[in-house]
Amino acid sequence: MVDSLFFCVSALTGPEDGVLIQPPVYGPFYYAVRQQGRRLVENPLKRDGDGWHIDFDDLEQKLGQGVRMMILCSPHNPVGRVWTREELQHVVDLTRRHGVILVSDEIHADFALDGRRQTRVLSLDGAEHCIMLTSATKSFNLAGLRHSTVIAPDGDAREKLARALKQAHAEPNLFGSIAQTAAYNHGDEWMDAVVEYVQENRDYAVSTLGGRVPEIGCRPQEGTYLMWLDFSGLGMSHEAVKDLLVNRARVAMNDGLFFGEQGRGWFRMNLATRRANVEATVENIYQAIRSK
Ligand SMILES: Cc1ncc(COP(=O)(O)O)c(C=O)c1O
Repeated sequence: MVDSLFFCVSALTGPEDGVLIQPPVYGPFYYAVRQQGRRLVENPLKRDGDGWHIDFDDLEQKLGQGVRMMILCSPHNPVGRVWTREELQHVVDLTRRHGVILVSDEIHADFALDGRRQTRVLSLDGAEHCIMLTSATKSFNLAGLRHSTVIAPDGDAREKLARALKQAHAEPNLFGSIAQTAAYNHGDEWMDAVVEYVQENRDYAVSTLGGRVPEIGCRPQEGTYLMWLDFSGLGMSHEAVKDLLVNRARVAMNDGLFFGEQGRGWFRMNLATRRANVEATVENIYQAIRSK
């Protein structure tokens, strides 16, 4: 899907255009903008006791500053928000008003937890300027087959994307296409079981990490199988936390700085694994911190 994101930026924006993202956010959002010579505009997410939110005042102001495209992460990796219908409608309205193309990365949509349903951006009113990106790569672990889906209701955008793909000789992978079709047609039951398992892993991690190592900030994510952990309460530098995790706890997590400077002091834990791995991870972190 990252390839599709790169194509959206290169085909639908020009060198002088701004492209807006909402950090902390998945690293390749930065690369898709910077590596293709576009201007990065940041609308950082806000955090309060209630969790993570979009700063709509800042968003409105930034959208008026030569921004041509906004890349939304929905559900959001790494903060784990499943944006509500109202929040998404607000984003759609603001981008439309400012003539900004909204690219919505919905790759984690199957992992809307606790019975939530991810509102698809294209189901909202006035979403003709939006483009939805999705793929079965996360839900069905098919990333190796390199296949994703771009849905663009706007004919002009569709044409530009098709031309860019043709010029790059970017043909879809046949095996990926077949696998995605099979997954979507026959994977419901399996997917429901995976979501339930991930939820139980999440609840286990929140109660045990929260209970045993209260210095680590962890909240139950609303979506994705990824848990965004705040280690700043340990009073250690980012590098020292990383050293503790890797060399003492023997745990490999995603480095928060991959998601931008806002990720300093944070690390991301993957919960799409066997319960025994989550148990060992919590135990190892607990032992490493208590013996430091
Ligand atoms: C928000 C988001 N978009 C895209 C991707 C990458 O997808 P793919 O492996 O299909 O390129 C990821 C993977 O972590 C992701 O979290």
